[in-house]
Amino acid sequence: MPELMRFGVSVERELLEAFDALCEKRGFANRSDAFRQLIRRELAEETLQAKPNTRVAGVLALVYNHHASDLSHTLNEIQHESADAVSATLHIHLDAHTCLEVMTLRGQKTEVETLAEKLRSARGVEQGKIFLYPLD
Ligand code: NI
Repeated sequence: MPELMRFGVSVERELLEAFDALCEKRGFANRSDAFRQLIRRELAEETLQAKPNTRVAGVLALVYNHHASDLSHTLNEIQHESADAVSATLHIHLDAHTCLEVMTLRGQKTEVETLAEKLRSARGVEQGKIFLYPLD
């Protein structure tokens, strides 16, 4: 168990009220839990910005119409070309036409980003979103 430190923070009343409302909306047990998560998110973001070579784990979610010309095949080809970076793929048929594909990616940040952008920008992809988590 890491040592916990306490410190005082002064903020405007309105800001604190907005923070409390956010904590409640998101279901945090208390301000400390919410604040710790905000700090960790900012630190992770800073690591991703400052260290392009950092190792990351990531999730890429794509929504596409599988009737779009050759798209399923194209996405499959791209994933095979970068097999080392793709840990797992989950494919869900949302309806008769629409597919949701979720990929977990791993590797050097720039490499993972390039791969994700390539997949996301494939012709016919309707929406794509990526989340990266620094491992270093
Ligand atoms: Ni499908």
